[in-house]
Amino acid sequence: MNYENILISIEDKVATITINRPEKLNALNKATISDLSKAFKLLGKNDDVRVIILTGSGEKAFVAGADISEFANYTIAEGAELAAEGQESLFDYIESLKKPVIASVNGFALGGGLELAMACHFRIASVNAKMGLPEVSLGLIPGYGGTQRLPQLIGKGRAMEMIMTASMISAEEALQYGLVNHVVPQTELLSFTNVIAHKIIKNAPFAINKAIKAINANFADGKNGFEYEIKAFGKCFGTQDFKEGTSAFLEKRKAVFTGK
Ligand code: COA
Repeated sequence: MNYENILISIEDKVATITINRPEKLNALNKATISDLSKAFKLLGKNDDVRVIILTGSGEKAFVAGADISEFANYTIAEGAELAAEGQESLFDYIESLKKPVIASVNGFALGGGLELAMACHFRIASVNAKMGLPEVSLGLIPGYGGTQRLPQLIGKGRAMEMIMTASMISAEEALQYGLVNHVVPQTELLSFTNVIAHKIIKNAPFAINKAIKAINANFADGKNGFEYEIKAFGKCFGTQDFKEGTSAFLEKRKAVFTGK
């Protein structure tokens, strides 16, 4: 598969997707959204990949937002279509992917960039990262799920303030808010993210997939997360990995999971 604006590497069951438009601070134009959608679909099905890391190229930006030059002349209908298409093909898709997706936020994560990081399962930032949803400064509101995911992650009051003021917060503030899980020096960002990815890879893939879905069920309209958890918990008992995990514990050895 040829991509215009992203790079992909796969090593030791970890795929790293790098958004590669550094001269535009990795702003999300349509071609980049399309590249990302295709890549997540393919990597989601690739048995050699257990965890996906998403990052931006260059030292300055993860993603500085949706590409403003592309939508500056849009109509009401085109604006709604832009948000609907992006949410469905990429942002919601990442959130409900079976495999863990970690955002490695290496610089500015603004507007659609922060929304992309928030659609990932969790976030790790470098100390220079800055995050914000500045859409109201352009006469817009966030359109890729930002009004929903930001309050889920940091609470309603802080989300209201961040969105209404269009202000950026530092990586340290994001850590304090619970928007990112860790803050590390920029030179160590990818190696640190890989360490976390490999901790995940040691565990049973089917169980991880069900855990993602059960946690997401808590935030989905019309779903009872407790009921989902009961069913998913039960299903785990039918897997070879459950037999392996429990046998390995009782035999005092390390489990070797196959994903079956
Ligand atoms: N859409 C399109 N182009 C963007 C962009 C975006 N969201 N963010 C940055 N760029 C482009 C700039 O236009 C500039 O391109 P040029 O060199 O062809 O003029 C290039 O990326 C570098 O950005 P620049 O603004 O010169 O860098 P800076 O260091 O002075 O400022 C930011 C960095 C992030 C503060 C600034 O780029 C910015 O505010 N970007 C927009 C953020 C935003 O509102 N995002 C939400 C969009 S919904």
